Amino acid sequence: MASSKKYYISTPLYYVNSRPHIGHAYTTLAADVLKRHLKSIGKDVYLQTGTDEHGINIERISSENNKTPKEWADDVVKDFKEMWKVLHIDYDYFIRTTDDYHQKQVQLIFERLIRSGDIYKGSYDGLYCSSCETFYDESELVEGNCPIHKKPVEKVNEETYFFRLSKYQDLLLKYYSENPSFLSPSFRAPEILRFVEGGLKDISVSRTRVKWGIPVLSDPNHTIYVWFDALINYITGIGYDIEKEKNEKFESFWPCDLHLIGKEIFRFHAVIWPAILLALKLPLPKKVYAHGWWTVDGEKMSKSRGNIINPLDIVKEYGVDVFRYFIFKEVPFGQDGDFSMELLKAKYNSDLANGIGNLFSRTVNMVRKYLDNVMPEKPEDSEIFSRFLAMQKDIYKDIEELQFSLALDKVMKAVSIMNKEVDTKKPWELAKSDTVALKKFLNEMVWCLRLVSRWIYPFMPDTSAKMNMYLAIGKTQHPDVNAAKLTPLFPKK
Ligand code: MSP
Repeated sequence: MASSKKYYISTPLYYVNSRPHIGHAYTTLAADVLKRHLKSIGKDVYLQTGTDEHGINIERISSENNKTPKEWADDVVKDFKEMWKVLHIDYDYFIRTTDDYHQKQVQLIFERLIRSGDIYKGSYDGLYCSSCETFYDESELVEGNCPIHKKPVEKVNEETYFFRLSKYQDLLLKYYSENPSFLSPSFRAPEILRFVEGGLKDISVSRTRVKWGIPVLSDPNHTIYVWFDALINYITGIGYDIEKEKNEKFESFWPCDLHLIGKEIFRFHAVIWPAILLALKLPLPKKVYAHGWWTVDGEKMSKSRGNIINPLDIVKEYGVDVFRYFIFKEVPFGQDGDFSMELLKAKYNSDLANGIGNLFSRTVNMVRKYLDNVMPEKPEDSEIFSRFLAMQKDIYKDIEELQFSLALDKVMKAVSIMNKEVDTKKPWELAKSDTVALKKFLNEMVWCLRLVSRWIYPFMPDTSAKMNMYLAIGKTQHPDVNAAKLTPLFPKK
């Protein structure tokens, strides 16, 4: 991990035409997992999330519901914030593209780029998918439809402002080659390289037919293209002020360390966004990481397909930590994964109830029974504890590289090693024959389990806190816990 103490992570700004679902939760939770880990090793982490509230879709859905777009957005924003609270997401700032400060800066940025010649007026004749808010080339369509939404695209012909994306082709290619981890995961880089090498066309960045958007200051018949508006959140949210020479907060966190996104918006973040920054003469982000999709029966989970699973239903049945664990353990971050409640239940029982939960209960019970609940000193010359300490480095590295499933695989391996140790050492027999060996063994178990608790913290913060309490982290004995009834961490289902 780089030595600088500051670390800025962003999530996409979610459209407010959909209520939050597993897909949105996935990216935001990934950001939270990374943040919790980095904070625990002493970094000053800033996590920004929020909502993308302009554009034709929001205009349509709000009028269908007899609300103004802003009223509609206010409502959906409440749902997003509530969801982040339930899922224990420790974000620092929730930005909305309707925030006054953001809107003003977007307008000023647009004007600055008109003046520098990076934005110019012309007219557009093309095909548009309003669900993606994206223009498509005929050749990109699948059977005449939008390749993502599989819906017909609209023919659009209007006066528009263009952003001179073509000008930045070479600079972008240079940046990619000098910063090989910018396009992450690496298996997705060729898609972007091919696209940019194939030649960039200037893109339309204003609309005259969309009223619900930020007006172009010098030409208010135009509203600013939602993507141009939304991408800029990554700098306005940390106080970028185009009129100021210096801005401390902005400069302390920019360039962003990690833009976390889903794979369908990789181009916007890996091509258009850095080009806008180049036009503004600002440093480029260090990494854009495009993860895969949660699907249901192979189809992307999304509002337009009507196959949404609400995380709150899972939380109600299993608790928040189980949901957090499952989505990162089951599917390698970066790949697609098919969601299934059956699989969740199976993993719950095998990994959590029989794995960590069982290990925890039996260890705490033995400490009570055989050590009088006095927490032991750190074991010396313990082979297993040293082995566990060595694993920690790898687990941390996995998390920092966003290989969450690998980190959790290692945690589960450690849990299974410990459960096997208990089975083979049979402490209940040692209690009768060799109390010195028994004590040494329980010492090792407690200290190894304390490590496990530390490792699961970013994924399952509540469970970790409960474990810490019973394992009396930093204490020799915990009087409250002494009396407390030990309930299973994960009752079998
Ligand atoms: N508003 C744009 C992003 C602008 S960022 C400046 C947008 N919004 S969205 O509401 O459609 O959210 C897209 C993001 O939500 C994806 O990139 C991904 O992070 C997350 N997901 C939404 N559905 C998803 C799945 N089915 N699976 C995994 N993540 C998905 O695009």
